[in-house]
Amino acid sequence: MATTTGNEENLSDHNGCASERVGPSGDEAGDLKVYRDNSPDPNNAGQGLACTPFLDTVLKNADRCEWLMSPAEQMAMIYLLEHLRPRVAIEIGTRFGGSLQFISRLADKVYSLDIDPQVPARMAGRFKNVEYITGPSQETLPALLDRLDAQGITPEFCLVDGDHTTDGVREDINILLRIRPRAPMAIVMHDSFNPICRRGLRQADWAGNEYVHMVELDFVSGVVNPAPITRGELWGGLALGFLKPVKRSVRFEVSARAELTFQAALTATRSESRYRHPKTALRRFWRLLWGRPLLSMASTEPKLS
Ligand SMILES: C[S@@+](CC[C@H](N)C(=O)[O-])C[C@H]1O[C@@H](n2cnc3c(N)ncnc32)[C@H](O)[C@@H]1O
Repeated sequence: MATTTGNEENLSDHNGCASERVGPSGDEAGDLKVYRDNSPDPNNAGQGLACTPFLDTVLKNADRCEWLMSPAEQMAMIYLLEHLRPRVAIEIGTRFGGSLQFISRLADKVYSLDIDPQVPARMAGRFKNVEYITGPSQETLPALLDRLDAQGITPEFCLVDGDHTTDGVREDINILLRIRPRAPMAIVMHDSFNPICRRGLRQADWAGNEYVHMVELDFVSGVVNPAPITRGELWGGLALGFLKPVKRSVRFEVSARAELTFQAALTATRSESRYRHPKTALRRFWRLLWGRPLLSMASTEPKLS
């Protein structure tokens, strides 16, 4: 997000991100420009005005893949990867290779899992150090971990960004928590601000693994989404769990620095039920199909101003 400067058209043209203006609220004067994270332009998706130079330092001149993360999430991901320099990384949720383009640059070897059988063909030839594994992660991940364990390998960086249901998130994390790490290991989960995902994160048995030393649900906090398809819903956010090859000796708690923000936003966006109500599902399906809201329900959308 950037304040207006009078040359918004130039900024928009240069940056290419889908954006909108929202008017002043309270005592504040002037419009704000709100960038969406899901620009259809893969070269600019989610980068706002801030990220491009940093992303370029990693990617050099390579073509970019659309990356469904906010600028802060992207920066946090790159920082973690540059800091950890994992020998082996696992990604659950390849999609178009947005996060993978960075993981593959900053890890020696990557296993990228997706339920979509089109992924290997879509990504063919892009990243030499990536093995694609197709199928539901709840089935493919245990087999992969067994294979790595037999070779004495700890996946030092794991991104959970696949099945976004409560059960799916909880199960993916619980499978990863079977690991007894031989090296420091980070588990990162995207969309920790989404109520359905957040519940799965909270239900996961973090405490049951004595090698877990820290879990923060709001390593990067999420937002009330401005994009049309999921407008007014809570999405984004990165949770971070950190395991060490020694057992913890102190009391363990899952922390959530932005829990009050999350609760306030959940109340303001009219509660979690919007994510479960059949009408919400129908409305989202309709929008995905036709790219516009169901008329009878359009007026129920929360506004950002
Ligand atoms: C949000 S996208 C991943 C985005 C990607 N990590 C990025 O940052 O650009 C979620 C992906 O997870 C995949 N997925 C959904 N359920 C899954 C499951 N049970 N097992 C594996 N992949 C799954 C979807 O096919 C989709 O490609």
